[in-house]
Amino acid sequence: MPKPAFGDGDASFQAAGGHEGISSLVDAFYRYMDTLPEAVTIRNMHSHDLDESIEKLKVFLAGWLGGPKEYANRFGQIRIPKVHAHLDIDEPERDAWMLCMERAVAEQEAWADDFKTYFLGAIARPAEKVRKASVARRKED
Ligand code: HEM
Repeated sequence: MPKPAFGDGDASFQAAGGHEGISSLVDAFYRYMDTLPEAVTIRNMHSHDLDESIEKLKVFLAGWLGGPKEYANRFGQIRIPKVHAHLDIDEPERDAWMLCMERAVAEQEAWADDFKTYFLGAIARPAEKVRKASVARRKED
């Protein structure tokens, strides 16, 4: 049997190592956001306490990768570009967010290289949508 493509069913959730793997990724992601000089601007858009953002991103990514869809039950319906539209995000902020994600992915030793590449390509799409929604909102202001 050929291996399922990462976008099929929960193949990506499994390739990420399930909840444990996603938890490790998101902890690393926010650690980079909290420490990389390139990320100061986007770090300052968050509350001082990152715990809620960390928990929300873990739950969101589990569903987004084809695993349990618990976000809506726990936190309500979400549209990613819309929840960010109030923030001032353009290319530098999007790139800083992706830099934290790239660093976090790089240190996931349990992840296969092809999944790392797939994940970073896939997550770049909503990151760009977030940027566009923020730019569009500012044009309306
Ligand atoms: C493009 C650059 C991005 C920046 C600068 C950014 C920044 C932020 C900030 C500052 C918050 C907290 C908002 C608040 O407390 O008002 C937040 C929340 C969140 N972000 Fe992002 N984000 C970006 C992209 C993304 C992407 C691509 C995803 C998912 C694929 C994502 C998922 C989330 C989730 C699930 C939350 C929690 C939403 C909530 O509180 O309801 N973000 N983000």
